[in-house]
Amino acid sequence: MLDDLRALQEEALGAVQAAADDAALDAVQSSFLGKSGKLPLILRAIGKLDPKERGPVGRAGNEAKQAIEAGLATRRAALIAAADADLADSEWVDATLPAPEGVQTGGRGGSIHPITALVRDLEDVFLSMGFETLDGPWVEDDHHNFGALNIPKDHPARDMQDTYWLTDGNLLRTHTSPVQIRAMADHKPPIRAVCLGRIFRNEELDTTHENTFHQCEGFFVDRDVSVGHMVYVLKTLLSEILGGEAEVRLRPSYFPFVEPGFEMDVMFRGDWMELLGCGMVHPYVLEAGGIDPNEFSGFAFGMGIDRLVMVRHGIEDIRHLMSGDLRFLSQFTGGLEG
Ligand code: PHE
Repeated sequence: MLDDLRALQEEALGAVQAAADDAALDAVQSSFLGKSGKLPLILRAIGKLDPKERGPVGRAGNEAKQAIEAGLATRRAALIAAADADLADSEWVDATLPAPEGVQTGGRGGSIHPITALVRDLEDVFLSMGFETLDGPWVEDDHHNFGALNIPKDHPARDMQDTYWLTDGNLLRTHTSPVQIRAMADHKPPIRAVCLGRIFRNEELDTTHENTFHQCEGFFVDRDVSVGHMVYVLKTLLSEILGGEAEVRLRPSYFPFVEPGFEMDVMFRGDWMELLGCGMVHPYVLEAGGIDPNEFSGFAFGMGIDRLVMVRHGIEDIRHLMSGDLRFLSQFTGGLEG
């Protein structure tokens, strides 16, 4: 009988392998393990055996049953996986293909958001100047957004940026400058990094103020870095973005994390346009980032992106940008390349 069981197990596993779908597996299962299946049929004869043989035969019967069940489960899983793989092939859609002739698309092709388009252009220029792009979280802590940037608690400079505080004591970042701190945490000089991203301020909304907007942070630390290097980088950047050779000017300004600090204006269509804050990274900030200010110096700048998008496209109200309004967005169908 032990031989019969072994032969049966082999026969069953062969049938399991040969089953091509779920229904076939069901059939195999009932023909071998079902009430009047082949295995129970053999086992029914156990009662007629010599009592001494019953134990080993019973055990072998159980083992055969388990082996067949395991084989069935493995085969079922394999069939499902194969079906899924087929589905990925058969259902694959190339969303970039033009619609077949005669199919109505409603005239609404997708387009690149004008902010995304400018962000990509800026990233291209920075990349060509050897900068790497970094990311940072929108939800920041006090230390990264303020403390490590030389803005201690109760410092009046905190009022320059109306902050959305969260109930857990964290905040929505009010500028991209916290990424300077994050850059120093895992990079040693020379550091050339930019972060282009979303920021949040609790502003009264009007045509030039949004509570959600975008900044481009630049951070450059090395030996003997000077204001001249900063002006060169910014001028190159603005020339690339605005076209032609950009005319820029620096005005002294104050940000706690730079010294000296400036605002940079750029000549645009006959007028000076305020565009960004910048300056030489404050020694306290370098020190807090574990960089010796006697050995290294650097510059940083923070540029408003939305402003630049507005002048680029002649947009008169900043609130259009984040509105998601299709009447606005559909005007930027310059192709998916942006
Ligand atoms: N973080 C400043 C702001 O949001 C801009 C800035 C960045 C100024 C870096 C100087 C250096 O206003």
